[in-house]
Amino acid sequence: MRINKYLAHAGVASRRKSEALILAGKVRINGTVITDLAFQVSEADSVTVDEQSVYQEEFVYYVLNKPRGVISSVKDEKGRQTVLDLLPMTKERIYPVGRLDWDTTGLLLLTNDGEFAQQMMHPSHQIDKVYVAKVAGIATKENLRPLTRGMILDKQKISPASYKILEIEKTQSRSSVELTIHEGHNHQVKRMFEEIGLPVQKLKRIQFGVLTLDNLPLGRYRELTAKEVKTLKEMT
Ligand code: URA
Repeated sequence: MRINKYLAHAGVASRRKSEALILAGKVRINGTVITDLAFQVSEADSVTVDEQSVYQEEFVYYVLNKPRGVISSVKDEKGRQTVLDLLPMTKERIYPVGRLDWDTTGLLLLTNDGEFAQQMMHPSHQIDKVYVAKVAGIATKENLRPLTRGMILDKQKISPASYKILEIEKTQSRSSVELTIHEGHNHQVKRMFEEIGLPVQKLKRIQFGVLTLDNLPLGRYRELTAKEVKTLKEMT
């Protein structure tokens, strides 16, 4: 396997960043610095980066039903519970594919497959992400229309989304709206609804590409099937 791909597969860095490490002379094969980006690594080779051994990990893929109050990162400097605390202890370095806010619940994909994670997050691949938003106010075709036209939020162009109105609670002046987006900008769904005057009170992600929560209870995870991984890879 080509050296930059080998390092990316081992979770060291993306392929591009791995190339920079190679050119900087930080990578040794069997003790010798190599700067040839085309170098092919074989199974018997011993590879180090900054004198640390690099091992190929088995790829693992999980889907978690994230509860409210759990941080979507690998570590929290304030010591709060993270999504990794809800997964089995593994030797693999697993991380979330994109993020859900602290107070957002629902479907989060996690893996140690860096290439796969990057592909899944790339906006050009238009992977559907489906959310159910409970919003303050009465949703109507008219006030939701800007969501379907593409918006500019903080000078950033957001591609058109689609929606379904699930419920209107007239007496409480609340609505429940299903929204499908393709990107993963920071707080995107909340900002989109804020922009049209329907602030989000609760947010849940129910779908990511072909993955759905099915009956996965809150706070629990399952491993993806080989078929699910294959289908997601084919989508990118
Ligand atoms: N959009 C948001 O606003 N928050 C999330 O957690 C996910 C998408």
